[in-house]
Parts: sequence; C-alpha cells; structure tokens
Amino acid sequence: MSTCFNYHVKTAHTYDSVRRPHFLDWSNYPNPFKLYPDVERFRLLPFKGFTGETIDVLYRLCGEAVVEEIDFQELSNLAFAMNGITKLANFHGEPFGFRATPSAGALYPFELYFFVEGFSEIPDGIYHYQPVDHSLELLLKGNYREALESALCCELPGNFVALISTIYARSAWKYRARAYRYCLLDAGHMAANGVAYLRSIGIEGVAVSLFKDNAVNSLLGLDGENEFVLCALLPGEPPLYWGDEVLITASFPSSAPVVVKPIYEPEIVNAHLNGNLDSCEFYRRFPPPADQLPEVSSLPLSEVLLKRRSRREFTGSPMSFNDFKLIVESSLLCFPSDWGFPKLNFFIQVKNVEELPDGIYTVSGGRLALYREGDFSREISSLCLSQRFVSLANLNVVFTLDFENAPTCRDYRGALLEAGALGENLYLSAESLNHGACGIGAFYDFDLQAFLGLKKSELPVYIVSVGVLN
Ligand SMILES: Cc1cc2nc3c(=O)[nH]c(=O)nc-3n(C[C@H](O)[C@H](O)[C@H](O)COP(=O)(O)O)c2cc1C
Repeated sequence: MSTCFNYHVKTAHTYDSVRRPHFLDWSNYPNPFKLYPDVERFRLLPFKGFTGETIDVLYRLCGEAVVEEIDFQELSNLAFAMNGITKLANFHGEPFGFRATPSAGALYPFELYFFVEGFSEIPDGIYHYQPVDHSLELLLKGNYREALESALCCELPGNFVALISTIYARSAWKYRARAYRYCLLDAGHMAANGVAYLRSIGIEGVAVSLFKDNAVNSLLGLDGENEFVLCALLPGEPPLYWGDEVLITASFPSSAPVVVKPIYEPEIVNAHLNGNLDSCEFYRRFPPPADQLPEVSSLPLSEVLLKRRSRREFTGSPMSFNDFKLIVESSLLCFPSDWGFPKLNFFIQVKNVEELPDGIYTVSGGRLALYREGDFSREISSLCLSQRFVSLANLNVVFTLDFENAPTCRDYRGALLEAGALGENLYLSAESLNHGACGIGAFYDFDLQAFLGLKKSELPVYIVSVGVLN
C-alpha cells in the first residue's frame, strides 16, 4: 500500500493510543497569526452583506457562471469569508479570535494569500491576508501572472487567485503526527467558504490542488516543508497552461516564527513531500453540475458565514425529511474542484429524521440506500471517543476513502481536501436552516472501519455531525 495509506494507519487513534500520556507544552502554544513586522499593509473594506441564499448557492456550486472580475469590496469579502475573525472570546485572560472557517482544536494552521491584478485601490502583487486587522500585507509588488500561471499549470481567468497554505506545526503542537489530516481538512473547509462566497456573487469559483509545488511555494516565499500551499481558488475553470517556469529573484519580507521551539513531525513532512508534483503532467478535470435545483428558502450566505459555529447543543428532536434532504443534497453532491477523483464514500448514520427509518445509509449517484437499519447513535458516539453530542445528532456523515483508488499521496491530499470542503458545506447548509453542525476528527479509526464493515483498504477520514438545535 501507498505511503499515505501507511501514514493514515500510523496516525489512527486506538483505545490505547488516546490514553498514552501526552502533555501540551503551553510555553510553546502556537501563534495563530503569521506576523510580518515590516511590510506595507492595505486595510480591506469591512465585510458587507449580499443576498444569495445559502441552500440555493450550494446547489449551484458546480453550475456554469459568467466569469467576471471582482471589485475591491468583493475581494475584501472573500478574504473575510475565508479567514476573517467572526467572534472574539476570552482565552486564559487574552482575547481570542474565532474564524469564519472552523479548525480542529481552533489551532488555525491555515494561511491565506492573494495574487491580485488591476485593482485601483492596491498595487498589483502577491499579498498575505492578515486576519488581525483585516488587511492585505504586500509580499511582492508587480505582476506575477506568468509565474503563477506556470506554477499552477493553468491560465488565470479574472483578476485574482486565492491561495491556501498550512503551517502544520500549529496543529501538530496538539495532535502531533495526526495533524496533517486536520491541516488538509481545515484547508478544505476554508476553500468551501471561498467557493460559496464567489458563487453567491455569480462567479464560478473553482478550487485546484494540482500544481507544481515548489514553484507555487516559492512564489509566496514558503519553504515547502514547514509551510506549504495546499490549494488555490480561481474565478472559473482554468484552461491548462504549459509555459516555461519563471524564476523569482525578489526577496521576501521576513515573518516571525509561530512557535518558540521548533516542532518537527517527520511522518507529516514525508507524507506531504511524497505527494509533491514537479511538472504539469497530470489530468485535471472538474465535476459536472448537479441536476437537482429545488426552490427553497434559507438564510442568506452573508448571514450564515458570520454566524457559523461548531454546534454541539443538539436536542435530539426530530428533523424534517425535507431539511435532511436539502442538507445532504446541497452539501455532498458536487464540489467544483480538481480533487474530487477518486471519489469518497459516504455513510450517514441517521436518527430521528421524519419519514426515514433510523439506520446507516449510503449515498451514491445522488441516491440514498439503507445499509443497516436500527438506532446506532450510541455506537457512533462511542466510536467518536465518547463525545456525547454525537449521539444526539440527527445525522452523522462518515467520509471514507478506499486507498486502492487513491494510490498516491496527491490523491490522499485531494481526498481530505474534498472531505473538508463537503464538511464545510454541511456546516453552511445546516446553519442556513437553523440547525447546527460540528466536525469530528477524533474517532477510533479501525473500530469505525470494522463497525461499518469496510474492507482493509478503506478507512474513515472524517465525520461531521448535524443536528436540530433549540
Ligand atoms: C477537521 C476538524 C475536526 C474537528 N474535530 C472536532 C472534534 O473531534 N470534536 C469537537 O467537539 N469539535 C471538533 N471540531 C470543531 C472545532 O473544535 C472548532 O471548529 C473550533 O473550536 C473553532 O470553533 P468554531 O467552529 O465554532 O468557529 C473539529 C473541526 C474541524 C474543522
């Protein structure tokens, strides 16, 4: 089996592994913000509302749209929808900013960068998004279109590209080698927020994860080992581009380290580097649009992005079949990215959904099939390290990957990005119908595999709970 199958197996939780003593080094608590002390910064405009209804936006994620350029307000909104601070809390006496995108352990390993061109408000260049003051920090001034096209192996439609990276040390501080999974899932969540925002303003946002890693990393001044790019968002399906690589000689501003003592996880570095690509010799394709487009009323995406949180206060009350169907269809049927192949499998443990017998269901080709009938809420909760709220959810969506169809670490990267993106769709759709969702990265991998009757090469990668709130 592949390197990343081995990575996934090695980082599985077992009854014993979660009980081994592991002390968190609070003196090395990672800074959730990447700080560039000496850069020119440009304040973005405050997030301003727009009208697209969430469920409608999600159903149309994969449809065609007119590719358009965005203006400065929309660029500001996009940055905020992906990585803005949407809630301030108090953490050990210090202010703590929760983001628009959820993250395992609220450790926020991701960073957000932009290539921009032709905005009158800011110079062309490559920027880092700073959530602390909602600003863009100028890393490279000038037009790097050709360099980015060559690195991403595609022509760039429109006037911007958003790039999502990860600094794995932040997540590894708590989760050690298992953190790579969470970095990928978190980045997928962030990409989904960006794509949904773009779609809500009529732009065909697509995510690409296939590109020349070293070339893309070096365009942002990243070393590719401690911090690396995982995906990029573009306004429209990009045509392939085979231009010569453009060497960047400019020097980048320095940033402060996010941890005082370096954190190094060889399993993570190995799994990641193993998936790197150094040429454009791959086949990039995007999924066709979903054909179901129901007329339905739900909260505007602008409102949902601001109020989304991980909800655990499920009541266990019944959910209507219509809400269940809208959540499942709008979230799981299609995501516009080049990472959806090979496909994930879905197992949905259902309890208390009107007109639907309790049980475990599979979803394939848009159809729901009863896999096993009965109330399995207690089993699923105990498989999620006995997290109690899981037993009160109306649906727990388990994403699984058959590694036989995903032989390379690039496939693995894509599969976890996809699970994260679909997970975020579940958060957004649930929230828009006044229900709640919560991602679950903590589960007993092999016990869950056995419980679902999966073959040896198929393992769970992520779970998202969705339930009725008060
Ligand atoms: C990949 C991933 C895994 C997560 N795993 C769990 C989990 O096992 N249990 C849990 O209660 N919350 C889990 N969460 C939710 C995070 O704790 C939550 O996103 C974070 O605290 C930030 O809060 P917010 O989502 O309300 O903004 C997970 C979130 C993500 C994205």
